[in-house]
Amino acid sequence: MDFDEKMSEYAASVNAALDAIISGGGERTGELTEAMRYSVFAGGKRVRPALFLAAVDAAKPAATETAASEAAVRFAAAIELIHVYSLIHDDLPAMDDDDFRRGRPSNHKAFGEAMAILAGDALLNLAYEVMAAEVKAGFSDGSSERKAAAALEIAGAAGRFGMIGGQAADILSENRPTDKDDLLYIHANKTAALIRASLTAGAIFAGAGDEFIAVTREAGFKFGVAFQIKDDLLDLTAEGEAAGKTVGSDARKGKVTYITVFGKEKAVRDCEELSLEAGGLFKSVGAFFLERMTERALERKV
Ligand code: IPE
Ligand code: IPE
Ligand code: MG
Ligand code: MG
Ligand code: MG
Repeated sequence: MDFDEKMSEYAASVNAALDAIISGGGERTGELTEAMRYSVFAGGKRVRPALFLAAVDAAKPAATETAASEAAVRFAAAIELIHVYSLIHDDLPAMDDDDFRRGRPSNHKAFGEAMAILAGDALLNLAYEVMAAEVKAGFSDGSSERKAAAALEIAGAAGRFGMIGGQAADILSENRPTDKDDLLYIHANKTAALIRASLTAGAIFAGAGDEFIAVTREAGFKFGVAFQIKDDLLDLTAEGEAAGKTVGSDARKGKVTYITVFGKEKAVRDCEELSLEAGGLFKSVGAFFLERMTERALERKV
């Protein structure tokens, strides 16, 4: 199976799980459910769930559960729920104040600010409901520790000392003097933390050995920082228009980005270098799909 086929397979399984997870919605929760589904099914690339599932696959033969298992796919879907909530809140007027996301009006433009805040809250909450249910159900051998450890890895990376901490630093940096350390803190936390945790949680979930887990941490961090550098570059350049988000949003908000600190040339160079390093690490443990993913992320236009 080639890379694109595998990626589509991962995305299709995650989409089906998301659809089942966000089903129902009664008389009084219809609009909230609609707002949640609007952003979940808006054409996201599903990078983080694919990383989780690819890590599960690559962790074999130590794994007792394959990426195709329902439990793995539900975990992957939970990560995407956290990611989508973060995007809805990131676009709010109080944050980046962006009207477009994935080629259409951002959530608060379609449903209003209050409903966008609540839809984000509900998606975040749902992610933990899904993971807690998985821990409760355990694996087929009756154990549940690896699921609990995977959930903890994701929860930590999404929180104060991870994504939310990075988002707070990003907001506080607007129109203020900032340096290289501020920028690296922001990139490491607002973006790399959840990307790294997607891989590490997959490895833990699958029962991988210490060496493989260590590679997911190191390569995941490098890939995550490269991913945000690329995001900064897309925000700057005309090709960003194809990205379905407002181009020039960072400059308008006076954000510190990899480009404002290091310049465009170094941004392009470092993005490439970090991606290559991450790819090399994945290759060293035979995780060839993940190696290819680092190359693809570098070429991405969206
Ligand atoms: C965008 O993430 C926000 C960042 C953390 C850079 P993605 O580029 O993965 O967004 P979608 O999910 O594909 O829209
Ligand atoms: C967002 O970074 C990181 C998140 C945790 C959502 P950006 O603010 O640069 O992401 P985009 O460009 O709006 O997708
Ligand atoms: Mg932002
Ligand atoms: Mg933003
Ligand atoms: Mg951006």
